[in-house]
Amino acid sequence: MARIAVIPGDGIGVDVTREAVKVLRHVAAQADTRFELTEWDLGAERYLRTGTTITPEEMRQLGEHDAILLGAMGDPRVPGNQHARDILLGLRFQLDLYINLRPVRLYDPRLSPLRDVTPEDIVIDVFRENTEGVYVGSGGNFKAGTPDEIAIEEDINTRKGVERILRAAFEFARANGRRLTLTDKANAMPHAGALWRRTFADVGAEYPDVERDAMYADALAMEMIRSPARWQVIVAPNLFGDLLSDLAAGLVGGLGLAPSASLHPGRIGLFEPVHGSAPDLAGTGKANPLAAILTAAMLLEHLGRPEDARRVDAAVRAVIDEGATTPDLGGTLGTSDVGDRVVALLGP
Ligand code: NAD
Ligand code: IPM
Ligand code: MN
Repeated sequence: MARIAVIPGDGIGVDVTREAVKVLRHVAAQADTRFELTEWDLGAERYLRTGTTITPEEMRQLGEHDAILLGAMGDPRVPGNQHARDILLGLRFQLDLYINLRPVRLYDPRLSPLRDVTPEDIVIDVFRENTEGVYVGSGGNFKAGTPDEIAIEEDINTRKGVERILRAAFEFARANGRRLTLTDKANAMPHAGALWRRTFADVGAEYPDVERDAMYADALAMEMIRSPARWQVIVAPNLFGDLLSDLAAGLVGGLGLAPSASLHPGRIGLFEPVHGSAPDLAGTGKANPLAAILTAAMLLEHLGRPEDARRVDAAVRAVIDEGATTPDLGGTLGTSDVGDRVVALLGP
């Protein structure tokens, strides 16, 4: 029986995770199997209540699951986002989930702000490096609060770290017959840039069949909007992958439709929608649960249930087709109504 830890987290993380769990339970019941879902009280509430974000023991226990489903972390009452760094980045780093896979699909051309695009035009998979880069938290504030203050945020890139994310992206591109684009700022950040470009060439030599190119991240941001059909698999350092995955989500209907998975092949996976806790929508019933539900589909795939994943994806497509959506997608339904509709479309 698959063991799934559920961390709803903060804000709309709670609202959308409830719907994703609803879908997972329904799929399990249909398949006559059971998922052991345990809910974890981790997030801003708990941090503000106890002063603890997450303990090493909790981290260890979480690591013993088959998968973790996470809603979102972020609360205006924790302005420095300490708990999100400890919990969300903590899980990614300590479980060594070096691949953050963010698929971008256009379910309906009406959802795109772009003119004349078809679903075939936007099929992008972002491979975001997930354990290094500027996210490692290396640095410090010196002479804080004085006119002489210095803030250092170091960008850590290791050969091993760069090589493994590039290899994952090449493997994926090969398996799916897709083109691979490396993006970076090698023009402005020559040290990290040299490592990424050299490793791209070295690893790429093992994948002569994979068509590839490299593009600076600023130019790519523009070209993804101007001609999205040119991009298939994009591999990026942590920060650029973060930025470009929100941009890509914007091309297909916004964050309410963007799923993601943090992976290390053969190990536990962390499944988290791309969006945050959206404090502006928390508790209003307006949060779109489809990103979380598509994230649950990625989790099903991870558990070796690709057919169930495909059925959930089809049900999401169907709710969009019939306009049974939250206001961000032009509908009038509430968060739980959309979840209920997905369940209904999955059949009894
Ligand atoms: P956000 O993703 O929470 O929201 C950005 C915009 O998108 C808002 O207008 C929001 O209303 C909208 N939006 C997001 N998800 C939506 C959904 N499911 N349905 C409808 N609309 C949706 O980003 P933000 O406002 O920059 O950040 C808010 C907090 O979330 C911050 O504390 C941030 O650090 C955190 N955050 C957490 C994660 C995560 O835990 N994975 C990801 C991103 C941001
Ligand atoms: C995401 C989020 C996180 C990130 C934040 C909350 C630290 O934006 O998952 O995309 O930057 O990775
Ligand atoms: Mn982000």
